[in-house]
Amino acid sequence: MRVPIIAGNWKCYKTVAEAVALVRELRQGLMNIKGVEVVLCPSFVALAPVADLLKPTGIGLGAQNMFWEDQGAYTGEVSPLMLKELCQYVILGHSERRQYFGETDEGVNRKVKAALRHGLKPIVCVGENLAENEAGRTAEVVERQLRAALRDISAEQVRSLVIAYEPVWAIGTGRPATGAGANAVIGQTVRGTLAELYGKALAQEVRIQYGGSVNPKNIAEFMTQPDIDGALVGGASLKAADFVAIVQETVRAKQ
Ligand code: PGA
Repeated sequence: MRVPIIAGNWKCYKTVAEAVALVRELRQGLMNIKGVEVVLCPSFVALAPVADLLKPTGIGLGAQNMFWEDQGAYTGEVSPLMLKELCQYVILGHSERRQYFGETDEGVNRKVKAALRHGLKPIVCVGENLAENEAGRTAEVVERQLRAALRDISAEQVRSLVIAYEPVWAIGTGRPATGAGANAVIGQTVRGTLAELYGKALAQEVRIQYGGSVNPKNIAEFMTQPDIDGALVGGASLKAADFVAIVQETVRAKQ
């Protein structure tokens, strides 16, 4: 059985003080929730204070990006060595990183390898943009991104990572995919590619999230799909009540 995982991607929102306030609210709402793994991904500067607040809670913590080198003269970068003192997860290859910061499939692969080498669990993002979707190229694009991200990753390592299927046209647009549509890409293309790379049994073990305009109203549509194991939530993760409702709905839908 795959334990569902809901991750909140706070993106470039919330000062440290605001992040601390949001975590205090979330702690209350998420106390005693079982049957789901919850991960918060604030900005780098909020990781340390949020880590302290999360210590007694069982709520996980993740970064939104990472450099692949352990250390060195790389002004402005944050390394896996630094992150592993603070958090368990790291989002890698988010479409906003690819779109605005020039991240390539090859760079994402380097980061995935570096994270796994240090025991950080990557949340690897893949997804087609609108033009690719309209051209019927979804499967091709998602498969290419996934194969590239997982190059030289062993079967043992792939068990500890999470994949997020996030169609770019659904992110921040209020236009989510349908549950059935997302399940088809996740079940056939993402799990199908995993099966080709690592075998059918292992492909069934890997957790795959959907992301893109998830909210408390539509989360059940995704969580009742057999191949979708959770969500990567952007905008709705910034409001405590919405994020808590998403987590609660997930538990209900997966029971
Ligand atoms: P959204 O973002 O929920 O605001 O669409 C999702 C994401 O980018 O991970």
